[in-house]
Amino acid sequence: MKIDCTIDGKTLTLSLNSDKPLSLILRENMGEDSALNHCSGRMCGLCTVLVDGKAMLACMVPAFEIRGRNVTTFASFRKTRNMKDIEKAYESVGRYPCSECFPSRSLIFESLIDEGITDPEEILKEFTIVKCPCMDPDDAVNIVRRGIEIRRKRNVRRPQLT
Ligand code: FES
Repeated sequence: MKIDCTIDGKTLTLSLNSDKPLSLILRENMGEDSALNHCSGRMCGLCTVLVDGKAMLACMVPAFEIRGRNVTTFASFRKTRNMKDIEKAYESVGRYPCSECFPSRSLIFESLIDEGITDPEEILKEFTIVKCPCMDPDDAVNIVRRGIEIRRKRNVRRPQLT
């Protein structure tokens, strides 16, 4: 089937099997290694990407679900101003994910910060998508809350277009 979508800012029409997992599409069709399959599915969380701004496991998203949607991998997200907000939040709290889960955790934090979620239960539900034990759950809550503050301050400072 043909699928129109946007991946890392590129508008594409892909011809592929409708059930092909997004992680494989990224690797085989886009040459993108940042969302590789690391497990047999839903076990590690290291394939996380943003789909329309929401963190999702690329290995669990079939091709037909990305039709008309906007996929962002860490390879492009890392260069954004939003990533700088997350880096500031890490620095402010004094905690960082390990190098293995840094991309996935950063995308999950972005999803939560973008939605303005401050409820610890909701944060921890998303946070535990990644199974890496490197980070304390309380630190994750603090990073998201700090990230929301940093994002709000930046948006307030942004000049208004008239
Ligand atoms: S590759 Fe492990 S959860 Fe997707």
